[in-house]
Amino acid sequence: MKNVGFIGWRGMVGSVLMQRMNEERDFDAIRPVFFSTSQHGQAAPVFGGQQGTLQDAFDLDALSALDIIVTCQGGDYTNEIYPKLKEIGWQGYWIDAASSLRMRDDAIIVLDPVNQAVIQQGLNDGVKTFVGGNCTVSLMLMSLGGLFAHDLVDWVSVATYQAASGGGARHMRELLVQMGQLHNEVAKELQDPASAILDIERKVTALTRSGALPTDNFGVPLAGSLIPWIDKQLDNGQSREEWKGQAETNKILNTRQVIPVDGLCVRVGALRCHSQAFTIKLKRNVGLPEIEQMLATHNDWVNVVPNDRELSMRELTPAAVTGTLKTPVGRLRKLNMGPEYLSAFTVGDQLLWGAAEPLRRMLRLLA
Ligand code: HSE
Repeated sequence: MKNVGFIGWRGMVGSVLMQRMNEERDFDAIRPVFFSTSQHGQAAPVFGGQQGTLQDAFDLDALSALDIIVTCQGGDYTNEIYPKLKEIGWQGYWIDAASSLRMRDDAIIVLDPVNQAVIQQGLNDGVKTFVGGNCTVSLMLMSLGGLFAHDLVDWVSVATYQAASGGGARHMRELLVQMGQLHNEVAKELQDPASAILDIERKVTALTRSGALPTDNFGVPLAGSLIPWIDKQLDNGQSREEWKGQAETNKILNTRQVIPVDGLCVRVGALRCHSQAFTIKLKRNVGLPEIEQMLATHNDWVNVVPNDRELSMRELTPAAVTGTLKTPVGRLRKLNMGPEYLSAFTVGDQLLWGAAEPLRRMLRLLA
């Protein structure tokens, strides 16, 4: 059995990873060692039925004794520890949720339902570093994988509707507190059906603009609003989140010729499901039934939601998909621009296929 070290297992992505590993009985196949950046020496969790003590996440001797390291601790930890382990000649496998190492030539972005062959080739070539992709990219490829697999995509333009969880746990709390404060402000009026809705709206807007809502994490109010920027500002006018779309998609697919992917990334008041609206330019005119067939048969988690009002409202929403591994795709239709222009809308849990699940499956493959 492989010795597997876990760092950052208590955070949001780490917790989802632990939960999924429990559900799938992954701990039966490994010897887990739990690390902490601040509480080593205390009792480790009993995932897999084995109790121990928490090890020091900065102890290079303890880390280098491991066959596999799985970290959800974040980029700063990776930037500090990964080079040191490499320097002392550690030969184990590094599985990482952070983006720091993603674009390195000696790292593979893992999303096995989409790039199993790339992963396998990497393993054969001795690649030791496997990194989870950006959540919007992974969720797009889980939903639209069939089109890419059939080499049908000329380019993709995307508009995202990204959940608060993408920012982190504190962001989710902040959104909910904002929602609560806005509701409190007008709770009395809402109970009175005769109250004027524009008066209610004015009070809500006034509170939103007053500076009284907590905004330490998002910087501005998100509840009742949206934020058309995610991550850092790049020199070319893109946000870093938008830049990742093309860079990571093409790396995951190991394309020989770059497929352009670009668009606008927007934060909305959803909790943990990212949604995305796509305009896809196809390389040739393929009929919708054939497209639906390609999409639906690509992997076990995607399903095609017929382009029907009722079904779209019921099945193609964060409310329906949150907490599941489903990556539905719908609103499929040819656009007015011509028969090669396809619209699509996808939803996926940002913490499952968008973060923890690809790491879990990579670990399973190695163990
Ligand atoms: N960068 C993403 C977001 C989450 O902010 O929604 C992680 O991929």
